[in-house]
Formats: sequence, C-alpha cells, structure tokens
Amino acid sequence: MSTVILNAAEYSQCPPLLKRQKEKCILMAHPKYFDVQYVINPHMKEHIGNIDKIKALKQWETLKSQYEQIGIFVHVLNPVPELYDMVFAANQSLPYRTLNGEQVVVMSKMHSPYRQPEVEYFAEWYDNHGYRVIRQNDPPVDFEGTGDVIWHPQKRLMYIGYGFRTDKAALVRAAQLIQAPVIALELIDPRFYHLDTALCPLDERTAIFVPDAFSTEGHALIEQSFERLIPAPISEAMNFVANGHCPDGRHFIVQKGSPVTTNAVAELGFKIVEVDTSEFIKSGGSVFCMKMVLPA
Ligand code: ARG
Repeated sequence: MSTVILNAAEYSQCPPLLKRQKEKCILMAHPKYFDVQYVINPHMKEHIGNIDKIKALKQWETLKSQYEQIGIFVHVLNPVPELYDMVFAANQSLPYRTLNGEQVVVMSKMHSPYRQPEVEYFAEWYDNHGYRVIRQNDPPVDFEGTGDVIWHPQKRLMYIGYGFRTDKAALVRAAQLIQAPVIALELIDPRFYHLDTALCPLDERTAIFVPDAFSTEGHALIEQSFERLIPAPISEAMNFVANGHCPDGRHFIVQKGSPVTTNAVAELGFKIVEVDTSEFIKSGGSVFCMKMVLPA
C-alpha cells in the first residue's frame, strides 16, 4: 500500500486503520508570542501588529477547554519568543503509527523561512514523548504536516494538498514512509493555501469542502471519496468553516458564524460547538490549525 493514488479507484481497498485513532490527545502550543509580523498568506494582509493579545489568549484557552470538556487531553508546548506562528501546531509535523504500532513523526520543512525554526521545538517535544523522529532528508522538500495532510476517518488513507505550502514531491515520500496511499489534491486558490482550510472530513462518509479551492480533477476525487459532501459557501469558507474539527465523530468544533454549513452539519446529527478564533483568523488559521492530533 505504498503507492500514490492519483485517482480514487483504489479507495475501497484501503484497510481500516490498525489501531483506530480515537483522537483522545492533542498537542497545542501556547499563544504567548502569537502575533502577525509578516505576510505569508492573503489573510494576514493589513493585520501586521493588529493582534489583541489578551483576546487571543482568552480565545485559545476557551478552545483548549472545549476540547477538554469533550474528553480530550491537551498537551501544551511552551512558546518561543519571535516564533509568532508556532501556535498553529498542525503544521510542523505529521505523527502516525506504523503498521506495527510504533509511534513515529515526520517533521515538516516549512515553506516560509519565518516559520522554519518552529519545527525543531516540536521535534524535541516528540523526542521527549517517546516518538521516533524522522527529520527531513536531503534535499528537503516543502511539507507542512497536517496543514496539508488529512486522514480519511477510519482508513489508512491520506489526502495531501499541494501547490502553495507542500511540494508535490513530498507526496511520494509521505506515502512511502508511512506506507499509506495518498490522494493528491492540487490547491488552486491562495486564500485556501492549506488543505485544512478547504477539506474537513466529519466521519467516514461525510466531509465539508470548499469547491473554489480545488481543480476539476481534485473536485472529482473528493466526490468519489465521500458519499455526503457539504459545499461551504465562499463567505463561510472565508470564515474558516472548513477548518473546523470533528475529533470524535460526534462534536464539530468550529469558528462561530457559518450558519448555512453548520445547520447542514447539525442536520446530519453532529453536535456543533462554536468557538471564537477571530484573532487567529487574522493570521490565516482557526480551530483545525491550532492543534495536532496525536495518534492513539
Ligand atoms: N500564519 C500561518 C501561516 O500562514 C497560519 C497557519 C495556519 N495553519 C493551517 N494549518 N492552516 O503559515
């Protein structure tokens, strides 16, 4: 199962995950030094120096406690001065279990030099928590962890977005290392520069997606992969509704204020948990970006 799948024909052959990730633990990075001090995505324009730090801390703490209230343990990584985007803990790595159950993590190579130093702090955390850490080989290829890699719920199958932050060459490498097939999705709209801003699986059959973010081919692949697709209207996509997170197959934690999409999600039986991440949206990230799910 180490081949890269570019069409979804083999999808039904993907085995279930060996140990189903119940997603009971996540890693978040404390927002003490969170700020917008450079522009590396369109959402950051006009927000340099415009972060309300007290509000950001409250929003982060509320998000953390929402996870805790639904029974998820939150590990917290200490922040580092001047690493303003470190709070977006989804991007620096891709942790997983091997087919034998070993805990491994592949570290990212961030596209922007501003963010590259973040990676080693996460690698140290994984080192100290019993993971085998795989750092980038030569030549390093741009790869932004679970910003661009999304697991299909209940399957050993990954979707990887490429085009802005992750290089297409990283797909083959990830598939080979992890021994899981990959569905490659080209991202074509810079507002949706990470896959996690545009595709949000809720359960094995259901996903929210942002039609404008994908090429025609990508569209078709997503349609083949999920039986129930909820297209997000562009205004709600810009409100990061596709960056929500369903950690347990039941609760959907999401930025408040996207009624069309969240009503559709609620009608399918999910419980909507609205939070406010407005300070982080100024930097181009919301719920999904602000945590790393650790393999159970
Ligand atoms: N300012 C950060 C960046 O542009 C935001 C990252 C958001 N993370 C995400 N997984 N979408 O890199």
